[in-house]
Amino acid sequence: MRVIQVKDYEEMSEAAATLLFSRVKEASSLSLGLATGGTPEETYTRLAEKANKSNQSFSHVNTYNLDEYVGLAPEHPNSYRYYMDQHLFTKIDIPKEQTHLPNGTAVELRNECNRYERLIKRDGGIDVQLLGIGANGHIGFNEPGTPFNTGTHLVELTDETREANARYFSAKANVPTKAITMGIASIMEAKEIVLLVSGQSKAHAFAQLMDGEITEEFPASILNNHDNVTIIADEAAISLHASKHVL
Ligand code: F6R
Repeated sequence: MRVIQVKDYEEMSEAAATLLFSRVKEASSLSLGLATGGTPEETYTRLAEKANKSNQSFSHVNTYNLDEYVGLAPEHPNSYRYYMDQHLFTKIDIPKEQTHLPNGTAVELRNECNRYERLIKRDGGIDVQLLGIGANGHIGFNEPGTPFNTGTHLVELTDETREANARYFSAKANVPTKAITMGIASIMEAKEIVLLVSGQSKAHAFAQLMDGEITEEFPASILNNHDNVTIIADEAAISLHASKHVL
């Protein structure tokens, strides 16, 4: 895993947007795996700015989001479809039908998981997967204990994750209890992975990712087994690891 050390959230966002923009520019066709949450917000803003400044089209790009809450319709302000529309899709020229998320309102949720997994495979797999990380090491909504061999599946959200995401809802009670997420195996099939880590609240997770063993109890640890991972991490996120190592 390559680690790019940056000063703060702004620098991380700029570095990530620059990297993604160059992939969009260089490719004749690109499958981008996308994450939501606080971490990539500014990355998306800057990516859209770069595209608009240089008239870069996204018409050759397909996107596949990692996850979606169960029970939230696309127009619900807390759905990840809504988040993606707000932060990226409406700011670039990507056709809506080329932007994919699991359907959290599907009647048959297990069929929906299978459909999503097959869709990604049918389209040739993900070229570049953007990831954030939970303080407990989750990637996507793959919580500690998720088997490494899982594809897209239905998950029960942990209390910790619902608590962390409650900041976007009027009350924790309104945070859905279930989600559909790409699995660890789905994520590991991406040809390239870019993991963003920012802030003191992620310092333990970053240190464990770098120094800890590879275990299902810390899902992100599997990334050590992927041969093309770039981590863009800021000083606060690196702080605990840096105190133990000369970087
Ligand atoms: C979001 C996702 C999650 C987040 C993680 C970090 O699509 O898959 O794994 O990346 O929960 O969230 P933030 O960035 O809000 O700290």
